[in-house]
Amino acid sequence: MSDSKSSNAMWGGRFADAPDAIMEAINASIGFDKRMARQDIEGSRAHALMLAAQGIITDSDADKIREGLLTILSEIERGEFEFSTALEDIHMNVESRLRELIGDAAGRLHTARSRNDQVATDFKLWVRDQMDATIEGLGALMRALVAQAEAGADMVMPGFTHLQVAQPVTWGHHMLAYVEMFNRDAGRFRDARARMNECPLGAAALAGTSFPIDREMTARALGFDRPSANSLDAVSDRDFALEFLSAAAITATHLSRMAEELVIWSSAQFRFVTLSDRFSTGSSIMPQKKNPDAAELIRAKVGRINGALVALLTVMKGLPLAYSKDMQEDKEQVFDAADSLALALAAMAGMVADMRPNAKVLEQAAAAGFSTATDLADWLVRRLNMPFRDAHHVTGALVKLAEDKGCDLPDLSLDEMQAVCADITDEVYSVLGVHNSVSSRTSYGGTAPEQVRAQVARWKEMLE
Ligand code: ARG
Repeated sequence: MSDSKSSNAMWGGRFADAPDAIMEAINASIGFDKRMARQDIEGSRAHALMLAAQGIITDSDADKIREGLLTILSEIERGEFEFSTALEDIHMNVESRLRELIGDAAGRLHTARSRNDQVATDFKLWVRDQMDATIEGLGALMRALVAQAEAGADMVMPGFTHLQVAQPVTWGHHMLAYVEMFNRDAGRFRDARARMNECPLGAAALAGTSFPIDREMTARALGFDRPSANSLDAVSDRDFALEFLSAAAITATHLSRMAEELVIWSSAQFRFVTLSDRFSTGSSIMPQKKNPDAAELIRAKVGRINGALVALLTVMKGLPLAYSKDMQEDKEQVFDAADSLALALAAMAGMVADMRPNAKVLEQAAAAGFSTATDLADWLVRRLNMPFRDAHHVTGALVKLAEDKGCDLPDLSLDEMQAVCADITDEVYSVLGVHNSVSSRTSYGGTAPEQVRAQVARWKEMLE
């Protein structure tokens, strides 16, 4: 190896000149991949142990490597490590420091390994940690939603389609709709985690190695289920990052829908919920304002997360096997998406835990907009044996009458109703109230309080 200051100490053997400053700038990833320092050191420790166990390096060299790596880890954790752009990336920064600390033994660490399998391993370990953290973050949000659902199992509110009042539903039912969505999101991360959990280490540059390595051993040491079975695939697979990003994008989409509802619900026009001061901000000019900024920012985060997914899909598209430097562009997107998602999940969990539904306003809104018209039509079918299409027509005429009079359906007199349909009796009033309406929807998955309570019990058990 050349000691020349003019060329790279790691790969500069055949180079006479040092890289141009621009080359160094476009090539270096240390500015961001230092976030994988812990994973890089973990991977190197597992590799060195395996090399010694297989008699490829001596136990004494392996000991020195292990101690040196631990020293580096603590230097990094204490913020004392000096990262160098000239050393390109985290892998070469660590190895170079190892050489300073332990001398020649450091040069043996890279036996039967390449930065290609090294970076794939480090990045997988990092993404795997993020998948676990995201699943936990989703769990915390779901628990907050279930608590809201339990407290408001029989609180009525308007259910909407087209953002027009449709039928009364319960607050608990609405909260649990989001629990279903976030639970599927968690499932997507779990599926992806199980699929990705194969260890690339030992694939070396692309073809495997002639050294008698034990890939089962390194895979096990790093918590992988098995070594990946094809070395070309191992160094060029970034599906795991794409799956993380696509699951993140869907989660962020769900978060944005919920955030949008909170923005609408907390407005003066709706007043469905009061958000806590802890998760709101004021205006510097309008003293009366309390703005749902956290909800708005959560609504917006999906933009950068979708952007990260499209960016990485585009980077990977059309790349020939195996490794290409293009793939270095994977990390910043994933880091940013992971940070954004973690923050959005935590903010949403905090907002949900703190928010207070305004039961009175919700109930009034639930009764407005002829929300029990379907209940009336169903009553005509059940009691008068009317075909549903006729019942729909009669109910439509009654709605029109109420609209013309500027009143709600229960405000029509029996005479007025009988003028439209002579067989109607005053029993009909019992189905026009919003509480009766929601209580009657006892079909599985329906909005009735008893259904909501059953679902709350199921979720509480699952989320324990
Ligand atoms: N910094 C590189 C990356 O993130 C490490 C792998 C470099 N491999 C290579 N053959 N130059 O992709």
